[in-house]
Amino acid sequence: MSSERVVELLREAYADEIETVMNYQTNAIVLDGVRAEEIKESLQQDIQEELGHAEQLGQRLKQLDARPPGSAEFTAKQDSLQPPADSTDVLSVINGVLDAEEGAIATYRSLIDAAEDADDPVTEDLAVTLLSDEEAHRTEFRGFQKEYQRD
Ligand SMILES: [Fe+2]
Ligand SMILES: [Fe+2]
Repeated sequence: MSSERVVELLREAYADEIETVMNYQTNAIVLDGVRAEEIKESLQQDIQEELGHAEQLGQRLKQLDARPPGSAEFTAKQDSLQPPADSTDVLSVINGVLDAEEGAIATYRSLIDAAEDADDPVTEDLAVTLLSDEEAHRTEFRGFQKEYQRD
């Protein structure tokens, strides 16, 4: 039995992943400076992963006889990940990325619980895999945050 809650969370996670792709891409372009190079490279890599997450979530929705949302249903959430006014403010982007990753982690934890309640092990397995990717992203950016906060 697929629960409405599972579909709702899959659709929410899909939209969040797409918003993440947009903001990582924008910040990877906007940031300036020698110190930004490593962050930009890491964002570029994560863009591909987050896009892959969106695709997997969308395919799972289809398997559940649902569909991912289009842009008309989209509500932006990532205030802290907007490109900074000062294009050398790398720490602002790092903090925004950490907020986005924490948000994704919370959503995948909710999805794991909802999928378990709905006896939907396939969605649960997907949510566990994506949770593990987001925790790895968080670890990487926590490392960047440490370095930037020290300076
Ligand atoms: Fe993701
Ligand atoms: Fe991520």
